[in-house]
Amino acid sequence: MFVSRAYVPDGLRPPHFRQWPYTVPAVAEVVERGIEFTHPVTFLVGDNGSGKSTLVEAIAEGFTLDARGGRAARKAGAADTTRTPLGEVLRLETTAQGARMLAGPRLKKKGFFLRAETAFSMTENLGGVPGYWQENTAEMSHGEGFLAVFRSMFREPGFYVMDEPESALSFTACLHLVALMHELGERGAQVVCATHSPILASTPGADIIEVGEHGMRRAKWSQLQLVDHWRRYLDNPTAYLRHLTGS
Ligand SMILES: Nc1ncnc2c1ncn2[C@@H]1O[C@H](COP(=O)(O)OP(=O)(O)OP(=O)(O)O)[C@@H](O)[C@H]1O
Ligand SMILES: [Mg+2]
Repeated sequence: MFVSRAYVPDGLRPPHFRQWPYTVPAVAEVVERGIEFTHPVTFLVGDNGSGKSTLVEAIAEGFTLDARGGRAARKAGAADTTRTPLGEVLRLETTAQGARMLAGPRLKKKGFFLRAETAFSMTENLGGVPGYWQENTAEMSHGEGFLAVFRSMFREPGFYVMDEPESALSFTACLHLVALMHELGERGAQVVCATHSPILASTPGADIIEVGEHGMRRAKWSQLQLVDHWRRYLDNPTAYLRHLTGS
């Protein structure tokens, strides 16, 4: 584990919560109480617009992972050092290992931020670049390319932040990613991942935080709204579709 908590210090708290991102309940809760990381793998799940990306981007920034998505920031200027509004005020409490890594030389800094919006262009542009992956993802399908990238980038104990890594993946490929995340956690890495995938969220031993109108709450996989919806939908699609199609 590298990061044990994300919080906003007293002196950086906004005077009121009327402005984005503080209007997002999960963000307001982080400002008020912080968010604890207690397991090697943590998932953030919740509806569209619940604040998952806002949170994971700020967390990635806090660990100086390039906010465009990619490796640990190389040097000032080389990475996108612009901060998101939450990233400006969010601070990370690191473990001794995390503090050593952040203070240490750049090449010892292991981590990766997979951002939903930039993931695809990353698989296209960074193949063969030293420090990234050697596979030619141009010759692979979208999902194959993603898995190849995950396999080669998520190897060492480091701090991995991901935003909807499932977007290109089939059911089976999601299962491969579950195995990979689980293995990463077992080998000393830390993963913080926003997802809509009930498969990813089922990674054994993972902590799940459900975000929404209520703010944030820890939940068991079997009790997630996401899982409940999928279960009921797969059981009887017409019951859901009746409301939408009127037939
Ligand atoms: N730059 C911005 N300025 C103002 N509002 C924003 C900005 N970015 C996001 N928002 C709003 O903040 C809220 C949370 O957005 P966020 O992208 O964090 O949600 P999310 O949980 O990642 O959703 P999704 O599952 O669709 O990816 C949304 O209501 C969104 O419209
Ligand atoms: Mg998002």
